[in-house]
Amino acid sequence: MKNAEVAWSAFDSIAYVDHNYGDLQAEDAEILTNVRDHFAGHFRNQGVGPVYGIDVGAGANLYPALSMLPWCDGITLFERSPSNVAYLESQVDSYARNWDQFWDALRENKDYDAFDADPRERFREVVKVQQGDIFDLERFAGQWSVGTMFFVAESMTSSYQEFTLGVECFMRALAPEAPFAAAFMEHSKGYHTGEQFFPACDVGESEVRESLAPFADEFKVQRLKSEAGLRDGYSGIILSYGWRGNSDPQVPIG
Ligand SMILES: C[S@@+](CC[C@H](N)C(=O)[O-])C[C@H]1O[C@@H](n2cnc3c(N)ncnc32)[C@H](O)[C@@H]1O
Repeated sequence: MKNAEVAWSAFDSIAYVDHNYGDLQAEDAEILTNVRDHFAGHFRNQGVGPVYGIDVGAGANLYPALSMLPWCDGITLFERSPSNVAYLESQVDSYARNWDQFWDALRENKDYDAFDADPRERFREVVKVQQGDIFDLERFAGQWSVGTMFFVAESMTSSYQEFTLGVECFMRALAPEAPFAAAFMEHSKGYHTGEQFFPACDVGESEVRESLAPFADEFKVQRLKSEAGLRDGYSGIILSYGWRGNSDPQVPIG
């Protein structure tokens, strides 16, 4: 099933948050540890200039945005589904308390702990929700100085061609040398939110590595140590993080 054939408006954001992010799971804690250390290591040594972040396919997950919060002057939550856009907009003024445990996990890194603003206030100031399609991100190529994409490229289609194009669109949205983090369900068979079934593309570490390699300079691809948890129909989680490359293969997008 291709991305355009999926009923994204039927995505049940509340059921999704309740199921996945009501409590901090071991898999998400492991992702947060790696991502916060990567971003803190990068931004600790950075100089002047505003930093703009993007979370692509933000869905009903705020923790990728929280991982960018201390470093950004603006964060775009880019999402296609109208129900998820409504959820994200409902969180901007004062996000729900379940997200506090994710912020607390980030604060285990001293650079996040040293961030002296109230995270809710900062979130309200810097976060903007933008409805859009990942395949149209090309228009904004090179605009963002840090980016995240969690469980999107492989969880929005069963087409391998659309998976690789999704990764490409995400990476091309980033400026040269921008740090990024991306997470993928390994060998996913698709998933339910509420009553609705959503397709997935079956990928493993090698497909993730191949999709990122043309657009990243230096990056890691690792399978999480945590056992596959409460999400259905997959064998593990693959996390990648690194930096956007300086030069791309000279081929048109797609
Ligand atoms: C499995 S959810 C992941 C949500 C969130 N990033 C997370 O970590 O839980 C996949 C998300 O991709 C979004 N999505 C699907 N097709 C998209 C597209 N063409 N452009 C942007 N987002 C899309 C869906 O609406 C959904 O929010």
